[in-house]
Amino acid sequence: MDQRREQTVKAVAIETFGGPEGMAVIDLPAPAPAAGQVLVAVEASGVGGVDAVIRRGTLASYGFKEGHILGSEAAGTVTAVGDGVDTSWIGRRVWAFTGFSGGYVEQAAVPVEAVLALPDGLSAVDAVTLGSSGPVAHFALAHARFAPGESVLVRGAAGSIGIMTVHLASRAGAAAVAVTTSSAERGERLRALGATHVLDRSGDSVGSGSGPDDASGGYDVIIDIVAGADLPSFFGRLRPNGRMVAVGVVGGPPPADFGMTMIAAFQKSLSFATFSADTVAAADLNAVRSAQFAAASRGELPLAVHEVLPLEQAALAHRKMDAGEVFGRIVLTP
Ligand SMILES: NC(=O)c1ccc[n+]([C@@H]2O[C@H](COP(=O)([O-])OP(=O)(O)OC[C@H]3O[C@@H](n4cnc5c(N)ncnc54)[C@H](OP(=O)(O)O)[C@@H]3O)[C@@H](O)[C@H]2O)c1
Repeated sequence: MDQRREQTVKAVAIETFGGPEGMAVIDLPAPAPAAGQVLVAVEASGVGGVDAVIRRGTLASYGFKEGHILGSEAAGTVTAVGDGVDTSWIGRRVWAFTGFSGGYVEQAAVPVEAVLALPDGLSAVDAVTLGSSGPVAHFALAHARFAPGESVLVRGAAGSIGIMTVHLASRAGAAAVAVTTSSAERGERLRALGATHVLDRSGDSVGSGSGPDDASGGYDVIIDIVAGADLPSFFGRLRPNGRMVAVGVVGGPPPADFGMTMIAAFQKSLSFATFSADTVAAADLNAVRSAQFAAASRGELPLAVHEVLPLEQAALAHRKMDAGEVFGRIVLTP
């Protein structure tokens, strides 16, 4: 009998869409790398906002089904390779993109193109905090055609994408970087990362700052991670020729008629765009990711690890996310 078939690994699945109580730790047959794949012994799995969106069933119309294994990124050590893959990968520490599924696992078999070697000095926990969010922040700003000297508002800045967007915009020479957040304490943490204005979730100022008055001057760029019912009101905070780029939907979808607000402001020549990293070539994503990993290993990028929890406590991680307790990322370790 094939001994391998008797081996199992732990994974976290959605048994029932809805709250974290619908998540379960299950046993899966231990994966073996197929041709072109590497097998990663996972040391850390990132818990992203999108995981909660999938868990709630919000994206069921996109084909997500109950039974889905959560998670999209993991990091660890390559322990085996499939046919056609250079054996020198074995023993290397890597970050791995698992797609929209398969990150909350003890072992992951992924295409070799989906892994990136980690520099010395960057832990697996750090890698899954940065590996997805860093490139998304970078390319979202590029998609918005952000230029140094412009003012930026990051809506939903307290998550891992927002934190990186704040830092990158500040470092690139933004005239002002405003953030929306629900607490003064988070506002202070975001100021330490480069934010110049702290706003409440409605976009109203809650403290003093330097740079343009957000009420009258407005922003050249809004990077929006929230969407939801309030999204249209933020068009009014854009300057003429301002660009809003929707990167996430943590607040749910916007109202169906949200475009009417833009039409009403026709003379401001506003732009609205969505941004998905899916439209960026893998080589370009990896070039930025690799540079960001290297910068992080030198201590030049912020790594907002909120908490590290055991894989078995994935539901607790989601409860904390749902309760709005998380600044940055929760990371799961097997
Ligand atoms: N475009 C892409 O390529 C891409 C890639 C990966 C993920 N995503 C998307 O990015 C999102 C997750 O990003 P993330 O992990 O950085 O975010 P996150 O941590 O889930 O949320 C960011 C912040 O948004 C605020 N927030 C949450 N619910 C809100 C609400 N109802 N109204 C207003 N603010 C709210 C919270 O901060 P405060 O409590 O401080 O306000 C929260 O910390 C998901 O929608 C995912 O689909 C996009």
